[in-house]
Amino acid sequence: MTDTVTLQNGLAMPSIGLGVYLINDPAECQQSVETALRAGYRSVDTAVAYGNERAVGRGIVASGVAREDIFVTTKLWLKDYKYEAAKTSIDASLERLGVDAIDLMLLHQPHADFRGAWKALEEAVDAGKLRAIGVSNFGIDDMTKLLGFARIKPVVDQIEMHPYYQRPELVAYLRSQGITIESWAPLGQGKQHLLAEPLLAELARKHGKTVHQVLLRWHLQQGFVAIPKSTNPSHIAANLDVFDFELTTDDMDRFRSLDKGTPNTRIPRWLMGPLLRSFSPRQLP
Ligand SMILES: NC(=O)c1ccc[n+]([C@@H]2O[C@H](COP(=O)([O-])OP(=O)(O)OC[C@H]3O[C@@H](n4cnc5c(N)ncnc54)[C@H](OP(=O)(O)O)[C@@H]3O)[C@@H](O)[C@H]2O)c1
Repeated sequence: MTDTVTLQNGLAMPSIGLGVYLINDPAECQQSVETALRAGYRSVDTAVAYGNERAVGRGIVASGVAREDIFVTTKLWLKDYKYEAAKTSIDASLERLGVDAIDLMLLHQPHADFRGAWKALEEAVDAGKLRAIGVSNFGIDDMTKLLGFARIKPVVDQIEMHPYYQRPELVAYLRSQGITIESWAPLGQGKQHLLAEPLLAELARKHGKTVHQVLLRWHLQQGFVAIPKSTNPSHIAANLDVFDFELTTDDMDRFRSLDKGTPNTRIPRWLMGPLLRSFSPRQLP
């Protein structure tokens, strides 16, 4: 087990990164990024929609870790999916993050015409502004549409993934396309019912780890990248301390019984599109 996965374009991506969704206070976001990088993290996942790219950039500088050793991901928001708007948004993300190039930029959602945005992302790769490009929340139909016109293939699909929502059909499809799966909500967003599953407690006891560490191990052993969010220094450290044990094949098999086949938030797709399109991100100072 290594602590990086190799993306389809040859780029190495750390298999654990810090997620910063809903860390809305700039000082707290900067501090969490700094804490994580000092603790050994080498990957941070933000998005235009989170409004905290500038705080992430400040955390990177404050950590003292060399920029070239850090894998930075951000995501283009739906309102910027037209070609020209996407180009402007990419440059704005570079400026806010304070970097010359972004390691991975994702289309945040499929709920709009993403053709212009993808072309802008491809050209930004050509220009050296982005090292890799991918998508988030894309299902099989969305991905099939994208692959129909993409000149550069997406390297990652960042999707909701945890033992209650294992998505075997999508996983098999993405694997067949060589697209790396990146798990958001890898800890089920800390929802108590998942964390209270007896199987997790049993495996935590067996391996001398916490249920959170067992969960993260479940992602890593399937070749997924996981980006647990935390602002708590001891949680941040614990979430990286997952490379000294291994779940057995039998342990992994037993997770299958936990799959409920449902996401944490059940909003139907017909409603999700209009809801997300009406959301306009606000950048924090
Ligand atoms: N692409 C998308 O549409 C999308 C959507 C959602 C999220 N994401 C990305 O995925 C990241 C992770 O997902 P998420 O934030 O929704 O959920 P998550 O990482 O599954 O869960 C975060 C929750 O778990 C708690 N936690 C973390 N580590 C812990 C530990 N070791 N012990 C106890 N509690 C712990 C956190 O609280 P503390 O802060 O107190 O530790 C927080 O309440 C996001 O931050 C974001 O970067 C992407």
